[in-house]
Amino acid sequence: MAGLVEGKVAVVTGAGGGIGREHALALAREGARVVVNDLGTDRHGGGRGAEMADKVVEEIRAAGGEAVASYDTVSTREGADGIVWTALSRFGRLDVLVNNAGILRDRTLLNMSEEDFDRVVDVHLRGTFLCTQAAARAMRLQGEGGRIVNTTSFSGLIGNFGQGNYAAAKAGIYGLTRVCALELQKLGITVNAVAPVALTRMTSDLAMMKGATEDSLGPQLIAPAVVFLASELAAAITGQVIGVEGGKIFVYRMERTEGVLRDPASGTWTPREIAEAWERIGR
Ligand code: NAI
Repeated sequence: MAGLVEGKVAVVTGAGGGIGREHALALAREGARVVVNDLGTDRHGGGRGAEMADKVVEEIRAAGGEAVASYDTVSTREGADGIVWTALSRFGRLDVLVNNAGILRDRTLLNMSEEDFDRVVDVHLRGTFLCTQAAARAMRLQGEGGRIVNTTSFSGLIGNFGQGNYAAAKAGIYGLTRVCALELQKLGITVNAVAPVALTRMTSDLAMMKGATEDSLGPQLIAPAVVFLASELAAAITGQVIGVEGGKIFVYRMERTEGVLRDPASGTWTPREIAEAWERIGR
């Protein structure tokens, strides 16, 4: 039986470990030729190296798949173009982009440096923007549509103590996903996001991971949602955020309350009236 992404070319950023590695392995198992991008940093964005990406490429090849490594950073124009160029020059096309690369520099607002804020936003939000733009330009030239899967987080969608930089970046990725879905629809390019929770080097020391095991919360549990979104099975799905936490899959949606209408003919709301109606407004 043909794989779900047979003959497609996929780029996975940050695929040298954790969740991205599983995406790359799963896409390759389903027939995609994969660009395994990874800068080879530690979880705070320090250092770099080829080893992480190379290892995953070897794993894919050992299993009979096709893959090539890319060591570019997602967070610069040159890096993002280089990642997409690796797909075009080595495999001749690009069908799927999975924006997954990420770092953490947790600090509370009062203790956060500009450097901690900027570096995290650079990798997650700017990286997603730059890679999406480079990929969408290549997909437009190809004229056969495409699939873009971003990575957001409950931290950005709901909030998480000590992660102002990361949450701002992940909420930005949510907004970018919604807008790109609208803008790229006419080109047949779907743009969705996953919001994972998984046991990786990024999360292994968090209190919420206490008691988690490879079986219950391993990063391999996220990949099926990404393969689904990358495949023809999800051709009609765009602008969605799929939450994957262990065995549970759900959809995140922005909430808007019914609200209370005051007829403008009777004057504008006063702050005191808003206070009095607050319960009904928020219901
Ligand atoms: P990880 O640290 O294992 O993987 C991130 C990878 O990105 C690393 O291999 C790193 O070398 C690479 N990377 C970092 N900066 C890069 C850059 N500038 N260019 C290219 N590659 C770069 O972490 P994990 O957990 O696998 O995270 C993957 C994604 O999932 C991230 O976007 C993260 O924010 C997101 N996420 C993870 C959650 C979890 O529970 N593990 C929860 C919510 C979101």
